[in-house]
Amino acid sequence: MKTITLLPGDGIGPEVTAATLRVIEAAGARYEWESHLAGSEALAYYGNPLPQEVLDSINRNGVALKGPVTTPVGTGFASINVQLRKALDLYANLRPARNLPGVSSRYDGVDLIIVRENTEDLYSGIEHVVVPGVVESIKVITERASTRIARFAFEHAVAHGRTRVTAIHKANIMKLSDGLFLDCFREVATGYPGIQADDRIVDNLCMQLVLRPEQFDVLLLPNLYGDIVSDLCAGLVGGLGVVPGANFGEKGAVFEAVHGSAPDIAGRNLANPLALIQSAVMMLRYLGETAIADRVHAALLAVLSGRGMRTKDLGGSASTTEFTEAIVREIEA
Ligand code: NAI
Repeated sequence: MKTITLLPGDGIGPEVTAATLRVIEAAGARYEWESHLAGSEALAYYGNPLPQEVLDSINRNGVALKGPVTTPVGTGFASINVQLRKALDLYANLRPARNLPGVSSRYDGVDLIIVRENTEDLYSGIEHVVVPGVVESIKVITERASTRIARFAFEHAVAHGRTRVTAIHKANIMKLSDGLFLDCFREVATGYPGIQADDRIVDNLCMQLVLRPEQFDVLLLPNLYGDIVSDLCAGLVGGLGVVPGANFGEKGAVFEAVHGSAPDIAGRNLANPLALIQSAVMMLRYLGETAIADRVHAALLAVLSGRGMRTKDLGGSASTTEFTEAIVREIEA
């Protein structure tokens, strides 16, 4: 039986993780789960928010399913998510944003794939005080990382029947850093004559997304713009509770929701588990379990298409467990 690393996380993490395992196991998924603490719980227990055994486990198993982890603001440990992506070189963050039936949003026909570079840019975390009252934060862009993420975006487009990749940048102002990102994109694009390649300046993209999101297909972004624009795209299709995500490296993949640990609703059986369930569907497809992935996907579409069964964030009154059991009933019907 395949072993998968499980990081339930904190806040609403354990609730949405339990819901996800319940659903995929009802659909026939059989895995050995190697569960690990991360974040403040791991800090309290091991003295390290990201213990080496978590990294060893993911390296060994090649696949992890991860709930959100709280990052202390201002002081305390660095983001577990950023550390994990760097330590495992999970360089590509993939975030699909598409309309779901019965999930009201301002737009129809949104079907976007966001490909975000995951390892550098301002997330390099190189900050220092120049003199008191003046700090510098360094944006790192390399040819190597920009080229491999561009290649990932085009390969993903080819593999999934997409026709266009749009690179997002601010090369009019950051001529060297975003300019390099754009040059690498253009160079890689020459190897994919069947895919339309174009680019937009990030501020214009944001306006265009709000006016006519259905005009875009695959969006390729450096780390920081990718973080911001992917939340914007989540908002286009119903919010953070409904969009999945995955991080890919050469040697493995970590599947996680885009949302955070939602401390405002944690422990109250209110969280929407859809985002992590859909991330698990992406994981099942990655593992070649297409039939099980299709079964889960069809069941959640059926539940959403019906009346009434929604969590609070989607305007309903169902608890996490009521919503989860509705999907399980649909799978077992
Ligand atoms: P958040 O995503 O946790 O919450 C933002 C808002 O969306 C809140 O009102 C929350 O209740 C709601 N929300 C999020 N997920 C939901 C769900 N599944 N169902 C229903 N409502 C949901 O973002 P926030 O508040 O900025 O971050 C909280 C903590 O999570 C921070 O410590 C942050 O660093 C961490 N975080 C962790 C991530 C990860 O582990 N992948 C990603 C983003 C944030």
